Amino acid sequence: MSTATIHQYAPKTAGKAPEVPIRHMDFKFDAKDLDTTFFKDTEFATAYFQALSIFLTFGEELVIDTARYHRQFLKDPVLKQRVTALIGQEAIHSKMHDEFNDTLAEHRYPVALYRFLADNVFEYGFKKLPNRMQLSLMAGIEHFTAVLAEYMMKNEEVFYETGDEKQRALWMWHMLEESEHKDIAYDVYETLSGNYPLRVSGFALAAFTIMFLVPLGGAAIPVYRKPTKLLSLRYWKDVKTSLVFLVGPKEGVYGSTVKHILDYLRRDFHPNDHDTTAYLEYYKEKLLNPKTGLLSPYLVKEFVPKLRA
Ligand SMILES: [Fe+2]
Ligand SMILES: [Fe+2]
Repeated sequence: MSTATIHQYAPKTAGKAPEVPIRHMDFKFDAKDLDTTFFKDTEFATAYFQALSIFLTFGEELVIDTARYHRQFLKDPVLKQRVTALIGQEAIHSKMHDEFNDTLAEHRYPVALYRFLADNVFEYGFKKLPNRMQLSLMAGIEHFTAVLAEYMMKNEEVFYETGDEKQRALWMWHMLEESEHKDIAYDVYETLSGNYPLRVSGFALAAFTIMFLVPLGGAAIPVYRKPTKLLSLRYWKDVKTSLVFLVGPKEGVYGSTVKHILDYLRRDFHPNDHDTTAYLEYYKEKLLNPKTGLLSPYLVKEFVPKLRA
């Protein structure tokens, strides 16, 4: 992409964009503490999130590579600084989820198989797309993680039906940061492209991945771990309850957020139209207070990338 393609776009956050810090974490996961029914005490819905944990590390690598490539074309030093923060946050998400995924492998999750499949889909599929399409895909992925983060922050109780503190800390930290940086990829896309049909294409590809491929992987997990489950009535009851929690129109993770998901298709959409500042303040205090914060035992260091002209 040449710099000649840059059009006039002023991010809605321009001039008042909050600083996005990079936090180094160390959870030291232990496989013996893993709760396989972490999400609302269900196996099937939890498997979706665990499949997401495996696949999202590949999505994060794509976000990192795409953001790093396109940063060079940006003129605004604040947006450049924020892109560096996005890259830093995603790099640590990917590293921490990889460590978590290693503990899943110890519980007979198909981690090696899913890594192999994702590696091929990304290497020979997504990473071969033109740069601008990758940029649009990045913005689309970040929209879905922003929707998920907002849902999680509004439904804090979903994290507390488990005694698995580290898994809770992992997801709460990740969701906090997804919400912190939710406008950055979008602002880069609008600054360097802004093409609406292309934005919709990236959204469609992200939707296909997150709402079709990942659930497919999630659905296979319980059966892969123990095929005889298919004969158990208890398992099918779990599937039924899980589907309500995932796609139910009232409380489902994706069922109750359809409007937010589709809002991305508005021509003048911006991630900050969905104001999460009050939630961010609440969670920063709850998670990062040096004495009482849930994340404090796992936080190694925190810094804001330098502003460079
Ligand atoms: Fe992330
Ligand atoms: Fe993200």
